[in-house]
Amino acid sequence: MLADSNEPLKPLTAKREESSTEPLLKVEDLVKYYPLGRQGFFGAQRGAIKAVDGVSFELCRGETLGLVGETGCGKSTIARTLMRLEEPTSGAAYFKGRDLFALSKAAIQALRREMQMIFQDPFASLNPRMKVGQIIAEPWVVHSGIVPKEEQSQQVSELLERVGLPASDAYRFPHEFSGGQRQRIGIARALALQPDVIICDEPVSALDVSVQAQVINLLAELQTDLGLAYIFIAHDLSVVRHISDRVAVMHLGRIVEIGNEHEIYTRPTHPYTQALLSAVPLPDPEGRKGRNRIVLEGEMPSPIYPPSGCSFRTRCWKAESICSEDRPQLADRFNHGHPSACHFAEPHILATEKMAGSISAQTIALDR
Ligand SMILES: Nc1ncnc2c1ncn2[C@@H]1O[C@H](COP(=O)(O)OP(=O)(O)O)[C@@H](O)[C@H]1O
Ligand code: SF4
Ligand SMILES: [Mg+2]
Repeated sequence: MLADSNEPLKPLTAKREESSTEPLLKVEDLVKYYPLGRQGFFGAQRGAIKAVDGVSFELCRGETLGLVGETGCGKSTIARTLMRLEEPTSGAAYFKGRDLFALSKAAIQALRREMQMIFQDPFASLNPRMKVGQIIAEPWVVHSGIVPKEEQSQQVSELLERVGLPASDAYRFPHEFSGGQRQRIGIARALALQPDVIICDEPVSALDVSVQAQVINLLAELQTDLGLAYIFIAHDLSVVRHISDRVAVMHLGRIVEIGNEHEIYTRPTHPYTQALLSAVPLPDPEGRKGRNRIVLEGEMPSPIYPPSGCSFRTRCWKAESICSEDRPQLADRFNHGHPSACHFAEPHILATEKMAGSISAQTIALDR
């Protein structure tokens, strides 16, 4: 059941229920097309942008699912649709067993207590005319009664301190902060209603590498302390590794490979994942020496006219005729241990073992 939207908050230090294998969120065959309109006034429908084209996954309590793929592959559309900021074209999503797409307006508001989102550009999502304290307390105005007025200032102080900012920052405006600090404010606001899930849409993509690490470490700490689940979106595989339990790789509106973090980084079986991993920037020259960089030729195909069969076939060095005739489903057809949407899925171990080591080295460097 969704929580009562007016149920009082628990102390911020209270650990939530332990992670479990019971899915908190279940997404089934989610589709989102943006129609292109008609050609002329009476003309034919011009087709649609197939932003998300049949995506299924589950998210458990306390877990992080990394969602990775090039810009335009549909990551933010998934996030916005699950948050009910956009209507899906078809498909289903269940949050704590409840049909997300059948919720009334009032129930969507109640859902915000359970599911929150943070964005790539925290500045755009923070009202420049409001002081930070008001921004963080704003959800308590919408969900009235959960934090009594006289306790709000104390709760804001606690939230600010929880995200590593001094309580006095409540009296300052968003423009007075750096990008990393603004993202901390965005996180504090997302925590204000004590959600079970936060969808993090490229939360560190606009930040310097050292600040990225601080924000990722903060999110990881909060997860441990509060039992949060995250969908962590990024276009760079090296960013999600540190925080993800599982990783889903997306290409042109679909998940092409999904598995636990270790499998995806050390034994990727889809050529697209292998190419993305080979392009991860490595700080360690030793790692760089040993790897085979896979350079993808050509542009990402149009989501209006995706290729027949496998959507990756126009850039894939392994493509054969079956790849244009038959769309490969996400399945573990050769018992590699995790599903991959490729007719010829096979682990790419040699080129990635070194990479995996170097990516770990990079995340260790990020920790400092
Ligand atoms: N509101 C919209 N109207 C039309 N097309 C959109 C809209 N939002 C996103 N798109 C298109 O849908 C595709 C997926 O976009 P998006 O989900 O933002 O990708 P990502 O977050 O992976 O970069 C892109 O081709 C994008 O141009
Ligand atoms: S199905 Fe074919 S084109 Fe698609 S990734 Fe596999 S080998 Fe390449
Ligand atoms: Mg996006």
